[in-house]
Amino acid sequence: MDETLREAADLVATAERVVIFTGAGISAESGVPTFREALTGLWERFDAAKLATPEAFDEDPALVWGWYEWRRALALTVAPNPGHIAATEILADAGHATLITQNVDDLHERAGATGVLHLHGSLFTPRCSACARPAALSPAPDGEPGRITPPPCDRCGAPIRPGVVWFGEALPTDGLEAAVEAAANADVLISVGTSGLVYPAAEIPQVTARMGGAVIQVNPEPTPLDPVARVNLRGPSAEILPALLRQSRPST
Ligand code: OAD
Repeated sequence: MDETLREAADLVATAERVVIFTGAGISAESGVPTFREALTGLWERFDAAKLATPEAFDEDPALVWGWYEWRRALALTVAPNPGHIAATEILADAGHATLITQNVDDLHERAGATGVLHLHGSLFTPRCSACARPAALSPAPDGEPGRITPPPCDRCGAPIRPGVVWFGEALPTDGLEAAVEAAANADVLISVGTSGLVYPAAEIPQVTARMGGAVIQVNPEPTPLDPVARVNLRGPSAEILPALLRQSRPST
């Protein structure tokens, strides 16, 4: 690991334009479940088709709204981990920095990141399912997921929906365009904690590689991004990102 960490740190230290691209794995050590991990992942325990699609919401808004409110409540009970904090610091050291996340929690923001590009939306930006008017956040429920009737839009009365991207829905175009632009111009893109399975988000690290930038991957497991990565740092991000930050700063 030392050799690969040194190689990654040299890439980061000499990069002018740095992008960090994250998935659920960066929040795992905060206690937020990932999606596809055996036994603990959300999609291992719940059926995505019954919870994360527009059809599911139309069919049973209370089931879907209750599940996302449970996920929001969970996100509020946990804290950013050293990986989130190191990511903020690594970007602060760069001349030009962009943080792109697939995550819908607010842990990057709570770790001091600003201007975060949320490709899949956020648990903290509910909106009207009909007129898209932003809605206020209600007090988060406690306990396990249960059915909660979504509140009505105060303008048109339609049910409020989570501000997240569901399967079959387009990603917010402004976020995706900005993310592709940042990835295309990046000297280094650090991909952290993503299985690289869900497109178009999974395309982001590949854009950097295609444009000649260096991709560094941080993940305890191999992923389809392995061949795209210049350096693969195998391990948990709460350990690796702080080590990468230390190694990339000039030794005092
Ligand atoms: P996944 O659950 O698919 O993948 C999580 C990745 O994090 C896996 O590759 C794990 O090996 C890795 N991982 C686990 N613990 C880690 C740790 N401590 N440090 C670093 N990596 C760790 O989650 P995503 O790739 O984020 O989209 O999933 C992408 C999208 O699929 C999500 O945004 C969501 C989901 O369906 C929508 O719902 C639209």
